[in-house]
Amino acid sequence: GLVNTRDMFAKAIKGGYAIPAYNFNNMEQMQAIVQACVETKSPVILQVSRGARDYANINLLRNMARGVVEYAHELGCDIPIVLHLDHGDSFETCKDCIDNGFSSVMIDGSHFPYDENVALTRKVVEYAHQFDVTVEGELGVLAGIEDEVSSAVTHYTRPEEVEDFVSKTGVDSLAISIGTSHGANKFTPAQCTRNADGILIPPPLRFDILKEIEVKLPGFPIVLHGSSSVPQEYVKMINEHGGALKDSVGIPEEQLREASKSAVCKINIDSDGRLAMTGTIRRIFDEKPAEFDPRKYLGPAREALKKMYMHKNIDVLGSAGHA
Ligand code: G3H
Ligand code: 13P
Ligand code: NA
Ligand code: ZN
Repeated sequence: GLVNTRDMFAKAIKGGYAIPAYNFNNMEQMQAIVQACVETKSPVILQVSRGARDYANINLLRNMARGVVEYAHELGCDIPIVLHLDHGDSFETCKDCIDNGFSSVMIDGSHFPYDENVALTRKVVEYAHQFDVTVEGELGVLAGIEDEVSSAVTHYTRPEEVEDFVSKTGVDSLAISIGTSHGANKFTPAQCTRNADGILIPPPLRFDILKEIEVKLPGFPIVLHGSSSVPQEYVKMINEHGGALKDSVGIPEEQLREASKSAVCKINIDSDGRLAMTGTIRRIFDEKPAEFDPRKYLGPAREALKKMYMHKNIDVLGSAGHA
């Protein structure tokens, strides 16, 4: 069956790697994630956002995720699989997911005043732990859109708050803000420098803040949201086939590789999957305008996704081989 994040995170911290947390909204994305993680023998967190719940229906997503355990077995490896609610916005949303078989939830109270965040998170933890469901909380605000709540600016996590937050709430992991953000435009051109090819080079993540947090919470699981790398290969593919993405920039892989070796043991990636799918589908529409069988473009999009996830597991997060 599905597992919670407890053992997975303990092993990842010890082993110096991070577990991939990939978002899914449909069958092809889910298949690509599971195929990639089975082939690389990687544990995985399948995450469902508020947007995904609205788009695909919670019951269908849950049953798909349950089927995934058998699907992985059929593909040849019983990898540990977590079904996680991404950016839970209220106690009720978290409760609904827990009651519907999710093995992990996030309660995102990061935009509330500190004491309200503590109280809300505590309430979710008390409910979740009765069912052995693990809970992710968040301190600090990422720039970009977090499920309808958007912030133009980054508020870094304050290391002086983390110990108090974790002890008062009882959370199993903590999402922090050290310069990542959601979406495919993580930094404005003004925040970046440009290399010789005109490619935007973003400012580095605040590893100094991460280190301070690790000192305050030794061995405690840390989560990074907004960790897509925005592969320029797919940005280019989209733009060469009728798309109009401008100044898209993500987190360089080298920095995610470094973060994976630390207490960071869950890395959230959604936008890169969107880019790989959209790029592939645009290319096929452009190259084969007479094609009208959805399998002929969703199939290759699924292949592109799988290839990208395998690369992340093997070359970036280091989760490959740890199932
Ligand atoms: O937190 C952001 C995730 O990428 C989910 O986005 O709510 O549009 O599905 P979404
Ligand atoms: P990206 O937009 O960088 O993929 O972040 C996804 C995320 O944090 C989902 O919670
Ligand atoms: Na790690
Ligand atoms: Zn997020």
